[in-house]
Amino acid sequence: MRDGPGRSTYNAALERATPVDPPLRGRVCLVTGANRGLGKATATALARLGATVVMLARDERLLAAARDEVALESGNPHVSTVVADLASFADVRAAAVAIATHHPALHVLVHNAGVNPTRRSLSSDGIELTFAVNHLAPFLLTHELMPVLRRGAADGGARVITVTSIFERFGRSSLGNVRAEGRWIAFLAYTRSKLANVLFTYELAERLAGTGITANCVDPGLVATDLMREHALFRPRWLRALWSGVLLAPEAGARAAVYAASAPALVNVTGQCFDRYGRRVRTSRQSHDVALRRRLWGMSAELTGVGLVTP
Ligand SMILES: NC(=O)c1ccc[n+]([C@@H]2O[C@H](COP(=O)([O-])OP(=O)(O)OC[C@H]3O[C@@H](n4cnc5c(N)ncnc54)[C@H](OP(=O)(O)O)[C@@H]3O)[C@@H](O)[C@H]2O)c1
Repeated sequence: MRDGPGRSTYNAALERATPVDPPLRGRVCLVTGANRGLGKATATALARLGATVVMLARDERLLAAARDEVALESGNPHVSTVVADLASFADVRAAAVAIATHHPALHVLVHNAGVNPTRRSLSSDGIELTFAVNHLAPFLLTHELMPVLRRGAADGGARVITVTSIFERFGRSSLGNVRAEGRWIAFLAYTRSKLANVLFTYELAERLAGTGITANCVDPGLVATDLMREHALFRPRWLRALWSGVLLAPEAGARAAVYAASAPALVNVTGQCFDRYGRRVRTSRQSHDVALRRRLWGMSAELTGVGLVTP
């Protein structure tokens, strides 16, 4: 697995951070989809920086094993777990209650969990799975965690970070048909959800302007994870080995979210997209379509049953 040239000075500085001077000590960071791939690498990096890390995923056993590894690798014992299936609105709400019970303030919320299935299926709420997990879960979780994010904002600032993809630019803006009846194409379902991540970020940033809660998205690059495990080109073990020689390691891709979560320079920066070098990413033309993002917001509020107006 490779990283590539041009690592930012900030990333290099992060790697030099010592246990004596951890920049995120006292900060509570929640990472979704944290039991593997980019989420686990992000949780490990944030724990190394001294944060109190909450790892969320749906499989209790896998999550517990990942938590132990993150705590061991980072040398930070302040790592806990929350089990929730993000394909269920009820689970998302219950997870928010559990998190708020243990952490009165939340400083960083990384919406990382994602799926890229090859077959159409519906969430337990009857919504196309990719859209439900990749977009509606972050939308609802952000809303449900708003009281603790507000307390995080009052305690040095809070950051909401959503992991999108360069493929957002292939996302079609057709927001209707959330049950994906009729023809369903995996690539379009995924790219639409990643476009929704960017539209959500820009709208959230505008709604939260001046509150001390920032909203940014990140593009990790092309990373060797299990995201494409159902796709023919990633199924055979030998092909996976081939890909892992070409694609980024999860630790390299995770730098994008870690940068957005921790860079002092981003204290008041909101409504942007960053890559793993901390560079601003120019997202697609349609991601800047204000009418589109408002429509997505309205539709998401209706589907999840929340309002999420400016706090
Ligand atoms: N890999 C890339 O090249 C790439 C590029 C751009 C963006 N991204 C984005 O990066 C994020 C992380 O993906 P990854 O590449 O690290 O993939 P991954 O290895 O498949 O990890 C995805 C994570 O999301 C969790 N998840 C999936 N469905 C869930 C649900 N219903 N409830 C709770 N957790 C759920 C998975 O849990 P399980 O283990 O239980 O499935 C896993 O922890 C995604 O948003 C993806 O779109 C990835």
